[in-house]
Amino acid sequence: MKIAVLGAGRIGNVHASNVAAHSKVELVAIADPFIENAIKLTEIYGGKAVKDPMELIEDDSIDGIVIATPTDTHVDLMLSAARKGKAVLCEKPVDLNLERAKIACEELKNLDATVMIAFNRRFDPSASEIHQAIANGEIGELHQIMISSRDPGFASMDYLRHSGGIFRDMTIHDFDMARWLLGEEPIEVYASASRMLEPALEALNDYDTVMVQMTTRSGKQCHINCSRQAVYGHDQRIEAYGSAGMLMNDNLRPSTVRRYNQNATDSRSPLVHFFLERYADAYRKEMDAFVNMIGQPKAVPITPFDGYMALKLAECAQRSVESGKPVKVEV
Ligand SMILES: NC(=O)c1ccc[n+]([C@@H]2O[C@H](COP(=O)([O-])OP(=O)(O)OC[C@H]3O[C@@H](n4cnc5c(N)ncnc54)[C@H](O)[C@@H]3O)[C@@H](O)[C@H]2O)c1
Repeated sequence: MKIAVLGAGRIGNVHASNVAAHSKVELVAIADPFIENAIKLTEIYGGKAVKDPMELIEDDSIDGIVIATPTDTHVDLMLSAARKGKAVLCEKPVDLNLERAKIACEELKNLDATVMIAFNRRFDPSASEIHQAIANGEIGELHQIMISSRDPGFASMDYLRHSGGIFRDMTIHDFDMARWLLGEEPIEVYASASRMLEPALEALNDYDTVMVQMTTRSGKQCHINCSRQAVYGHDQRIEAYGSAGMLMNDNLRPSTVRRYNQNATDSRSPLVHFFLERYADAYRKEMDAFVNMIGQPKAVPITPFDGYMALKLAECAQRSVESGKPVKVEV
């Protein structure tokens, strides 16, 4: 099977590397309007470099398209590729506009399209172990999910200006994780948000430090903490609490050695730096899931509807901050 990657930036590099390394598929091309970005990656991973992504979408010999372009291009590229009958792996978020995302999801459903949204954290080994343990009933009836999600360093103002805000850009991963682990849709969202790090975010109507609380119809609760900057590194933890026990994972470190001396006990190495390192394994497993669903439309593990719902929760959180009140989730 032949795969092309659209977008040769940070995440395009990860996907191109994983396609190139996969035994069942061939990386045939990378598209980027900044052709030098595409050339740089094809020199490492192979395939041809092109400027126009539509050239690859129109190419009948290509089976799968990976969309790793800026968010505002996702809907058009995803729909164009799906209309041509290609399998698609599309980066999160689906779009920054909920109505556009909804219309796209409806068309993709009508096309019976094979489109997966790249919520890579579902493929993180510890997250999937927690998901499986909940499903196996290891902690009895699930009552609460707690998610901590903090980035190691503040993003540039230029990035933040185009990000769509912390809920749509960053917490979106946690909204998806919450839905997946809860196994039920949240029906109410309450969020609070502060600018603890960068007052200039006010001009963008954005925040750097947020807390979200959600409740499902049966009363399950979820709490999400998000910060744009944790001085001790990339902090990514999940706790699941139930009637018969609790599950929790820990952050990743390059080494398991603990040091003891006059100044500290139980001192450990810093956390692995950021998402590219923390989720390297998850990105590989995500690519494997994508490859396995090509030609198997009923086997899409993360659907455009999942992408839409995560965006919907982000929107509800933003509205809750603005109103100071809990917001009902209307699908
Ligand atoms: N799942 C994750 O962990 C994760 C991590 C980072 C980024 N993302 C998402 O991936 C997307 C890209 O983010 P990034 O950080 O790689 O951005 P980036 O700016 O590093 O790279 C984007 C690349 O796409 C190219 N591009 C722009 N328009 C294009 C088009 N129409 N066709 C082809 N290429 C085009 C740009 O020239 C650039 O090289 C965003 O939607 C972002 O939210 C997801």
